Amino acid sequence: MELKDCILTRRSVRKFLDKPVGHDVLEQVIATAAYAPSWKNTQISRYIAIEDRAVLDTICRDFLPEHNANIVSGAPLLIAQTFIKNRCGYERDGSLTTARGEGWQYYDCGIAAQTFCLAAHDAGLGTVIMGIFPHKELGEFLNVPEDQELMALIAVGYPAEQPNAPKRKDVETLLSWK
Ligand SMILES: Cc1cc2nc3c(=O)[nH]c(=O)nc-3n(C[C@H](O)[C@H](O)[C@H](O)COP(=O)(O)O)c2cc1C
Repeated sequence: MELKDCILTRRSVRKFLDKPVGHDVLEQVIATAAYAPSWKNTQISRYIAIEDRAVLDTICRDFLPEHNANIVSGAPLLIAQTFIKNRCGYERDGSLTTARGEGWQYYDCGIAAQTFCLAAHDAGLGTVIMGIFPHKELGEFLNVPEDQELMALIAVGYPAEQPNAPKRKDVETLLSWK
């Protein structure tokens, strides 16, 4: 797929076919997502792939608001994106490099997540990033290692819908020149 088409036609997909995502397919997507840029090439983003239906059902029942539970209950795969703490935004001596402090780690996770979603779209998969859930509690349930933190969830599967693009702001709003 041409890059511009990939960017323009990627949509948040919330309904999926009852078809598993092959491990080889996901591994290819992750290998592509690994090429996302990152702070000093720290590459802090990690991905936990959850396909066990019983675990997905527990996540839906105990952790997600109804809207997101409805998405995940119909998805064959859920990615829990985590990040390695205390690296991105830091100097090697442990001091923070800029006044933005730890904010860069969230910035890097966003770039990695979008790169993941574009690579998934190119592979014929639909995705939706989800940020509304209790990060600390779900992180504990998933046994996210001590040196990592849960960032976002990404439901993944073969699309069963082709949503229209929500309206975008025009260039005059987005761009200013000096
Ligand atoms: C950080 C982030 C958090 C989001 N959280 C949710 C969510 O919790 N539930 C959901 O259905 N969509 C969520 N979305 C998807 C957005 O609603 C969606 O990207 C936006 O409406 C634009 O639609 P599009 O992705 O199809 O272009 C999230 C997107 C981002 C980037």
